[in-house]
Amino acid sequence: MDLKSFVVLFFLIGCGVEGNILPSGPVDVVLGRNVTLQTVVGNLGTDFIVITWSYSDGHDLDPIATATPTGMKNVNDRYVGRVTINVTNGYLTLSALRAEDSGDYSISIIPQSFTPLTGEIKVRVLEPVSDVLIKSSVPEAVELNDTVTLTCSAKGSFLKFTWINGSVPLKVDGRRITAKEEELKSVLTIYNVLRSDLIGPIFCSAANKLETEKSAPFNLTVHYGPDEVKISPSKPAQYIRAHSDFNLTCSAVSSPAPSFLWFYNEEQVKTEGRILSLNIIEKLGYGKKEGQYTCSASNDKTKRSVRSAPVTFGIMEPISGAKLVGPTSVLIAGNSSANLSCSAESGAVKTRAWLKNGKPLSAGGRVTFSGDMSSVAVAPVQKEDNGKYTCQLINPVNTEQAVFNMVVHYGPETPVVEGRDAVEVEDLVTLVCSALSSPPANYTWKFNGTLTKEQSNTFTIDRAVYSDSGTYTCEASNAITGKKSASTHTLSVKEELVEGLSDGAIAGIVIGVLVALAAAIAVVFYCRQKVPVESPY
Ligand SMILES: *[C@@H]1O[C@H](CO)[C@@H](O)[C@H](O)[C@H]1NC(C)=O
Ligand SMILES: *[C@@H]1O[C@H](CO)[C@@H](O)[C@H](O)[C@H]1NC(C)=O
Ligand SMILES: *[C@@H]1O[C@H](CO)[C@@H](O)[C@H](O)[C@H]1NC(C)=O
Ligand SMILES: *[C@@H]1O[C@H](CO)[C@@H](O)[C@H](O)[C@H]1NC(C)=O
Ligand SMILES: *[C@@H]1O[C@H](CO)[C@@H](O)[C@H](O)[C@H]1NC(C)=O
Ligand SMILES: *[C@@H]1O[C@H](CO)[C@@H](O)[C@H](O)[C@H]1NC(C)=O
Ligand SMILES: *[C@@H]1O[C@H](CO)[C@@H](O)[C@H](O)[C@H]1NC(C)=O
Ligand SMILES: *[C@@H]1O[C@H](CO)[C@@H](O)[C@H](O)[C@H]1NC(C)=O
Ligand SMILES: *[C@@H]1O[C@H](CO)[C@@H](O)[C@H](O)[C@H]1NC(C)=O
Ligand SMILES: *[C@@H]1O[C@H](CO)[C@@H](O)[C@H](O)[C@H]1NC(C)=O
Repeated sequence: MDLKSFVVLFFLIGCGVEGNILPSGPVDVVLGRNVTLQTVVGNLGTDFIVITWSYSDGHDLDPIATATPTGMKNVNDRYVGRVTINVTNGYLTLSALRAEDSGDYSISIIPQSFTPLTGEIKVRVLEPVSDVLIKSSVPEAVELNDTVTLTCSAKGSFLKFTWINGSVPLKVDGRRITAKEEELKSVLTIYNVLRSDLIGPIFCSAANKLETEKSAPFNLTVHYGPDEVKISPSKPAQYIRAHSDFNLTCSAVSSPAPSFLWFYNEEQVKTEGRILSLNIIEKLGYGKKEGQYTCSASNDKTKRSVRSAPVTFGIMEPISGAKLVGPTSVLIAGNSSANLSCSAESGAVKTRAWLKNGKPLSAGGRVTFSGDMSSVAVAPVQKEDNGKYTCQLINPVNTEQAVFNMVVHYGPETPVVEGRDAVEVEDLVTLVCSALSSPPANYTWKFNGTLTKEQSNTFTIDRAVYSDSGTYTCEASNAITGKKSASTHTLSVKEELVEGLSDGAIAGIVIGVLVALAAAIAVVFYCRQKVPVESPY
């Protein structure tokens, strides 16, 4: 009986006689590597007669080698140099595995007891995973319009593919995104591709039981837009100041960047780019009237054009060179009238306002405004009309103002004389005269109707004498208004009073009286002595 028949015989006997002494497979091994097939029986000792390992490719059963307690025997030509059977435990080691080594390996051990032990295990020799590559059906795509098919291919055997989006598994929903595995490739189809789908980056990973290989990162440009086409500022002021630094800027979410067109009231503006500057609007002569500006963004790749919402504004010249012209002649209260007129060198004036000394000036009485408020007439002027007049020229883009100081001459009004009415001889007398007047009045003084030399508003008497009593008249005059006005003041200078004598004077008087009295007594005594001497008896 040749070896082959022997193996078959014991293999058949073995079936059903004992359980599988090999673990359940399959065992996967990478091409070129070594594999050791282990039994579950443990140490055999020298209790066995023969161990036989065989190989089947699914059709034929071929012996590999046999072993007896003394060593390995009968090695099949195909395995010479790359097979060992360990006689201690019956393990089969096969090295430098080839693709054709994939198949079923069986063992049969015939022990002394003569009840054979058998087992079978599948070995798969896996080619290493390599050349994992993603290819796209299109070089670029248009959002929503295009279907993108990505094919991941790889070399290897028993491969399973997975798709990775960034760092997480790509979600395949079976409807918009589908994946189909084929022999050595996986096809991912994305219908109506979105801009966000393929930024990932996308990876494909191919794996067998033992190895995993990842592709290079893949991304695909998906063109989209324009979306959200907007003009900034979206709500400009109703009027923009002419010649100012003002731009309309159009923006859009788009890939690739869009090109922009501008429209003024539906008329295309001859300019390029996302910025429409006021300078260009003015150069092209737009904007004198309020109008609507829109921009349109166009994407070359998606062939889509989108219009922005309109923005509305007009352009206005700022006011400059405000001038307030008033009367140049001398103004005299009650006799002159004034006309102030306000104008600007350039710019459109929309509103005019008048202030006097910072407070609004209103019409009424002697004050009249012209219909357009460009001038104000005051007739006749009065002293109250003195002050600072301001005219304000206003439009939506600026305000300018001009000032005129109006001087109205008036007076003098009735003077007021201040000073004492009654003084005593030797007193100092000061009379002060004041009369409201513009320009300040000149003064003259009269005493009892006679002009004095005094020409200031103050009349002074250093030491009053009795004859200074009388009527003082102050006259204020204003050569500009041609008016004069006078007031009188009465002064009385009183004589010295007794009560006013000093102690010395009183003492002098008393002594004088006493001396006179003594002299009188002496005369009387002298006369009495002479009379008895010259008696006739
Ligand atoms: C056979 O197996 C035994 C037990 O596992 C081990 O000790 C021995 O080294 C092996 N022999 C060879 C030649 O590998
Ligand atoms: C495979 O076995 C051969 C001899 O049969 C040995 O030289 C080699 O080192 C082994 N390789 C590995 C990876 O164990
Ligand atoms: C990939 O991930 C991004 C971000 O997480 C997501 O927006 C996108 O939809 C994903 N792509 C696919 C095809 O699922
Ligand atoms: C992916 O995108 C990046 C940047 O967006 C780019 O540098 C890179 O070349 C792209 N890769 C592929 C495969 O298109
Ligand atoms: C308007 O655009 C011009 C360039 O076109 C720039 O120089 C200028 O600073 C912009 N002005 C404003 C206010 O953004
Ligand atoms: C995308 O689809 C729309 C409608 O289906 C079509 O009008 C448009 O021309 C398509 N765009 C491109 C770039 O093919
Ligand atoms: C002021 O004078 C101007 C021209 O002299 C005249 O047109 C205007 O009506 C006058 N203003 C008033 C309020 O009278
Ligand atoms: C001035 O007039 C007063 C009253 O009329 C009179 O009493 C006085 O004597 C006069 N004085 C002179 C200096 O004329
Ligand atoms: C006051 O007198 C001077 C000198 O005579 C004169 O020049 C001036 O105009 C006068 N002032 C008034 C308000 O009359
Ligand atoms: C005031 O006005 C009257 C008449 O209008 C004129 O005769 C007189 O000279 C004026 N007075 C002055 C001081 O200008």
